[in-house]
Amino acid sequence: MIFRARHLLGIEHLSPQEIVTVLDLADRYVDLNRRTVKQSDTLAGMTQINMFFENSTRTQASFELAGKRMGADVMNMAVAQSSVKKGETLIDTALTLNAMHPDLLVVRHPSSGAVNLLASKVNCAVLNAGDGRHEHPTQALLDALTIRRAKGRIQRLTVAICGDIAHSRVARSNLILLGKMENRIRLIAPPTLMPSGVQEFGCELYDDMRKGLEGADVVMMLRLQKERMDGGFIPSEREYYHRFGLDAEKLSHAKPDAIVMHPGPMNRGVEIDGELADDINRSVIQEQVEMGVAVRMACMDLLARNLRADRGKRAAEVMV
Ligand code: CP
Repeated sequence: MIFRARHLLGIEHLSPQEIVTVLDLADRYVDLNRRTVKQSDTLAGMTQINMFFENSTRTQASFELAGKRMGADVMNMAVAQSSVKKGETLIDTALTLNAMHPDLLVVRHPSSGAVNLLASKVNCAVLNAGDGRHEHPTQALLDALTIRRAKGRIQRLTVAICGDIAHSRVARSNLILLGKMENRIRLIAPPTLMPSGVQEFGCELYDDMRKGLEGADVVMMLRLQKERMDGGFIPSEREYYHRFGLDAEKLSHAKPDAIVMHPGPMNRGVEIDGELADDINRSVIQEQVEMGVAVRMACMDLLARNLRADRGKRAAEVMV
C-alpha cells in the first residue's frame, strides 16, 4: 500500500500507485458504510476541523460523516459567524485553529492556491475540499472510484468532460487524474468556456457534443458556474441547453453502455436533462455521492497513518 502524502492538496501531487491505494481502501469503506453499524475507531482521539469558506452540501456533509464514522472529534467552523466576518485573514484563522491542535483540517476556499498556502502554516494534515478554479482532489477520486466500479477499470477508457471547463476545479482534477491513469480524454465546450492552454494535458477538444461523445465510455457533465461568471459566456441558458445540454438524443452518440456523471449541484434543464439525470440505467450521480463518503474516509485514514508515523518518529528522535 503506497501513500506518502502528508496533505491532500491536489491530484497533481499523487502518483498512479497512490491513487490506486486510495481507491482500494475506499472500496473497503463502501462495504462499511452499507452496514447498519458504520462505526470504526480509525480516527479515535483525533480532531478534525472543517472550514468551508464557500457553500457546499456534498463535500461538507460527506467529510463530516466520514470523520464521525471513523471516531474523530469533528468541528465544523461556522465561517459566517466567525471572526472572518470581522476581517481576520485566512492565515490568522488557520494559525488560531492550529493552536488548538487539530489533526486534520478540511478547507474549501474561493481562491486558487489558498489551501496550499494554509498547509505551509500549520502542523496537521490539510485536505483540499476545493480551492477556486484550481483543484477538487476528493471529487476526482470519488469520480474515479465510481467509474472503476461501473466499468471494472480506470484505464484505457474514453471519457468526455462537457460544459463549463473554464471555471471548473472538478474538470482540472479529473483531467489530471484520468491522464495519469492513461485514459483518452475529450473536452467538449463552447469556445468561451474552454480554457486556453488546456491541450497541454494531452486531451482532444470539441465544440460539438455529438462529435465529442462519439464512442465515449463515460460522459461527465459539469455545472454551469454562474457565480464565477460576469456575463457574456453564453448567449442564453436556453441556447446553451440546445447545443451543450445532455439529453437522450445526444447521449445516443456515446457507447450504448456509457455512464452519465455530474458532480452536483445540477442545473436541470441547463447542462443536463432532469429525466436523464434520474435514469438509474444510465446515470451514476447518486453512486458518486455514495462514493464521496468512502473516498473521504480513505483519504483521512491514509493521512492519519502518515501523521501518526511522523509524530512517532519525532517522539523517538526526542527520546534519543
Ligand atoms: N461536488 C461538490 O463539490 O458539491 P458541493 O459543492 O455540494 O460540495
